[in-house]
Amino acid sequence: MFKARALIPFFLLLGTTVAVADRRAVLEHYSATAENAPSAERGRMLWNKPGIRGRDCTQCHGNDLRQAGRHRRTRKPIDPMAPSVNPKRFTDLRKVEKWFHRNCKWTWGRECTAQEKADILQWLNTL
Ligand code: HEC
Repeated sequence: MFKARALIPFFLLLGTTVAVADRRAVLEHYSATAENAPSAERGRMLWNKPGIRGRDCTQCHGNDLRQAGRHRRTRKPIDPMAPSVNPKRFTDLRKVEKWFHRNCKWTWGRECTAQEKADILQWLNTL
């Protein structure tokens, strides 16, 4: 007898594959205009780089990106950043761009360059 339940693993697998393709497309959007190939090592350093007024990216996202963070001002929880535990991460270009815009300004007092965004995503995508 045909069971709809048998299709569930198929759709789960399909979902993961689509997310990976989207994540790659988002990264390529930035690396296309960056001078150098994206570097996870540079991305990791940028993530920990001190910003203006003692700010940095870990202040809201935490130090273990596989765990939830907490917004520094509103105290609201922020879902884990690591795609290995939160597969929706970095799959939606509009969302990624909106938050890079806000967070780079808040943390570093300026926009991030395409190179910096590509490096940071390259690193985050390994987590
Ligand atoms: C003041 C708090 C705060 C700081 C500091 C912060 N972020 Fe965020 N970030 C958020 C919030 C809130 C969201 C949106 C909520 C969510 O995606 O769960 C977010 C989302 C993001 C996203 C989008 C994730 C996605 O799923 O598309 C990226 C990329 C990001 N942040 C990068 C950074 C980088 C890089 C820095 C340091 C330059 C940084 N953030 C610093 C609060 C912060």
